[in-house]
Amino acid sequence: MDTINANITSQQAIELEDQYGAHNYHPIPVVLSRGSGIFVWDVEGKQYYDFLSAYSAVNQGHCHPKIINALIEQAQQLTLTSRAFYNDVLGKYEKFITELFGYDKVLPMNTGVEGGETAVKLCRKWAYTVKGIPDGRAKIIFVTANFWGRTLAAISSSTDPASRNGFGPYMPGYEIIPYNDLPALEKALEDPHVAGFMVEPIQGEAGVVVPDEGYLKKAYTLCKSKNVLFIADEVQTGIARTGKLYACQYEGVKPDILILGKALSGGVMPVSAVLADNEVMLSIKPGEHGSTFGGNPLACAVAMAALEVVIDEKLAENAMGLGEIFRERMRALIRRTALISLVRGKGLLNAIVINDTEDSDTAWQICLQLKDKGLLAKPTHGNIIRFAPPLVITEKQLHACCDIIEKTIIQFDR
Ligand SMILES: Cc1ncc(COP(=O)(O)O)c(C=O)c1O
Repeated sequence: MDTINANITSQQAIELEDQYGAHNYHPIPVVLSRGSGIFVWDVEGKQYYDFLSAYSAVNQGHCHPKIINALIEQAQQLTLTSRAFYNDVLGKYEKFITELFGYDKVLPMNTGVEGGETAVKLCRKWAYTVKGIPDGRAKIIFVTANFWGRTLAAISSSTDPASRNGFGPYMPGYEIIPYNDLPALEKALEDPHVAGFMVEPIQGEAGVVVPDEGYLKKAYTLCKSKNVLFIADEVQTGIARTGKLYACQYEGVKPDILILGKALSGGVMPVSAVLADNEVMLSIKPGEHGSTFGGNPLACAVAMAALEVVIDEKLAENAMGLGEIFRERMRALIRRTALISLVRGKGLLNAIVINDTEDSDTAWQICLQLKDKGLLAKPTHGNIIRFAPPLVITEKQLHACCDIIEKTIIQFDR
């Protein structure tokens, strides 16, 4: 087919997607064809700073040479065996990632939502085989405005009408309590059938919502007092994004189940992982859970390289330092304009809140103007814009980006 090999314009690419693709996304109208480090280029050759990083999957920067080399080398050797057989990379990866994060074992999956599904299944199995909850009665507590993907198990815990409505019936065995509300958690934990509490340490899709200091630690302690598993969804906050290897480390919490995804592969392919100690992980036996692609040698080689980049290039430290600078620049901007009311976040996972209603299109309009000025970001709600550049950004580049944001907001405010 001609369209497959021909160079196309942005307009043509958008028209093709509109005609032949499902209409389940509403992208910013820019068509990207190349990426390197913190930059992406559209098909007409215009350069942009990437301030979304594919929802924090590209923490190591686009097409990081070390990760791409690992991909190419492994792709020429062996890509997939399925778990019907052993392969010579999976074990090395399992040793590497469990030692790095301090867990006995890992269960490899592909997408973030499969990581979440795995955690929920693991928690239920543990509840029946170890904790002793009667079969079929286990309950998992979630919080309002959580986001962990699009499967039926995930949207059953969602409080977002767009994610949830029209897709019922929903998964039973869930209870949803307010985020950042310890008394609500304490009350919910009174039910002896509660098996787990699943939470994002910072809610990314909700608009980078940071809970009160001490929330995670206290929530963890409450869970422990009731023999309930504390499950951290660090698919977006993990892998150095917030200034630590994973965000629960800010409060010295080691989750009973830790879910990772996205930047675990540097955005090269879908790789997710669920980490737990033996008591929990060994409650799933051979044949009870799995995935054709989970733990494939290509993913394992890529993930090891992606994690090495995070460590070698001190990306957590960079995110922590530059995050402070970013929020300081945004606070200075707030003093100059009434258009923004708040900046919040940790490390390089940040958002600004615009003085407008949630259903306004102000954030969208600002993102369009940012795009015109060479910076790509996406609203998480009508009045919230997330800013999450690749963690390889330098201080000088960050200041240049803050200049663009500042100029755009000031002009927009007039
Ligand atoms: C916190 C969190 N968990 C899980 C997911 C789902 O990941 P995936 O889209 O790879 O299934 C996301 C995606 O945005 C996320 O932000």
